[in-house]
Amino acid sequence: MTLTEEIGKRRTFAIISHPDAGKTTLTEKLLLYGGAIHLAGSIKSRKTQRHAVSDWMEIEKQRGISVTSSVLQFDYAGCRINILDTPGHQDFSEDTYRTLMAVDSAVMILDAAKGVEAQTKKLFKVCRERRIPIFTFINKLDRYGKIPLDLTDELENVLGIRAYPMNWPIGVDGKYLGVFDRQKNQIELFAEDTTHGQKERASEIFAADDPKVIERIGKENFDALQDDLLLLDEAGEVWDKAKVDAGELTPTFFGSAMTNFGVKNFLEEYLRLAPPPAPRLSSDGVIEPEDEKFSAFVFKIQANMNPAHRDRLAFIRICSGKFERNMNVWHAQTDKLIKLAQPQQFLAQDRQIIDEAFPGDIVGLFDPGIFGIGDTLTDTAHKFKFEDFPTFPPEKFARVQAKDTMKRKQFAKGIDQLTQEGAIQLFNQVGAGTESYVVGTVGTLQFEVLQYRLKSEYGVDVLLTMLPFEVARWLKFSDGTKVLPTTLRGADRGLFVLDRAENPVLLVENEWALGWIRDNNPKLEMSAVPNASAI
Ligand code: G4P
Repeated sequence: MTLTEEIGKRRTFAIISHPDAGKTTLTEKLLLYGGAIHLAGSIKSRKTQRHAVSDWMEIEKQRGISVTSSVLQFDYAGCRINILDTPGHQDFSEDTYRTLMAVDSAVMILDAAKGVEAQTKKLFKVCRERRIPIFTFINKLDRYGKIPLDLTDELENVLGIRAYPMNWPIGVDGKYLGVFDRQKNQIELFAEDTTHGQKERASEIFAADDPKVIERIGKENFDALQDDLLLLDEAGEVWDKAKVDAGELTPTFFGSAMTNFGVKNFLEEYLRLAPPPAPRLSSDGVIEPEDEKFSAFVFKIQANMNPAHRDRLAFIRICSGKFERNMNVWHAQTDKLIKLAQPQQFLAQDRQIIDEAFPGDIVGLFDPGIFGIGDTLTDTAHKFKFEDFPTFPPEKFARVQAKDTMKRKQFAKGIDQLTQEGAIQLFNQVGAGTESYVVGTVGTLQFEVLQYRLKSEYGVDVLLTMLPFEVARWLKFSDGTKVLPTTLRGADRGLFVLDRAENPVLLVENEWALGWIRDNNPKLEMSAVPNASAI
């Protein structure tokens, strides 16, 4: 197969949703239909098995949530699918955001009874910023929920994205019989689910004007469907693939992941419409996936996945060319050559060594402690750097110090590595020395992860004191004078700290405090992140 053919068949995406909307269930059903598993239910059992093999997952076990993103790969209908899992818990982290940097499209799941929820909004915003195509699956149609028209309106009103319903449920709320496929102009009626969703669900397809349809669904349901379709055609969005590709129109599917209602059709339509790997911007202009020269970037680093070997894995997304085991590549950030031995791919927690991979694929590399998030790897004959990852504004802050001052060295090393991995953002309080640090994160869960990892990987018990701040602002005076605790009016209304590059940052409790600082320092410029590519 040529490089272009390999690229053309790849679909790399993430499923985004509020916790409990059905992400795990839908993922599992995609694997079921893709033939990667034979009975639904294995992911859940995998969830429990996983704890036995990895002590890093201890926190998962305690909290009953998924802390880290995993990667799944399988084939379906001639496509090679890479699903990047994003933790749906509300204490989510930068990890989730970064995972979204590595995908070409996203599937957004809504619970039909709940519509757009808080976490959906946050994740959607990140996808929107990246202008990637977003496909919506409205789940749990097997039970009572909001009516379909209200749900598509909600997408438009709450998220501000236009929705094009690809199918439309037939029947009444809580007891839908099938769906009308608007692209194929046909009706699919489902048989009863007799396997509790463990196996594919049988269905029958009818032409839209087949007289048998009225017999099967009844006149009332048939008339209601005609009314809805008329409304969609006259007042709804017009199909426009270019708008889908630009992330402005979301193809919307109705279904139930649990009962396999509408799942197969969703998967097939998604694979048909979702984009293959996209070009990426770099210091050397646009890098096309078809470029023969290999390139990739690191989007995630995960330590201690296997307690038997204290390993650290860097996950790379391949952007161009062909990846081969044992190849030598150039690491832009250190300007060094690196041999990529023992590259790994994943099916949930099962790993295997691979010999080759292509744009869109995710590969795990052993990391001897040299990689950072956003790092670029390229062919030695074509050196460049991909655009920096955006930094996300930290919202939670804590002061961290080693309980045992004798362990200061390990403590500093651990903190440094975790900062490099991107698990935390590090600040120094002016004049506070190196005994304690101020750490910023996107969610409070990361503090637990921090404590756990400093203990298990560096043997350091830490004292963690939450700070009352929720907003960080990087500071600059427009006339170029230095921002110091003494030159900033009201610096004592928050905590004046320096980031790793020694830029001044003020942590404050709320927007009101920020307003006061702004009003009293006319020359002050403030930004939520250190660089301009902020979200
Ligand atoms: P998440 O990964 O997005 O957090 O959601 P997950 O798939 O774990 O689903 C959350 C709950 O919603 C689960 O129930 C799951 O069975 C249920 N669910 C998922 N899809 C559907 C659907 O189409 N219809 C209905 N009625 N329920 C659905 P649970 O009680 O928390 O777990 P379990 O006991 O079913 O495993």
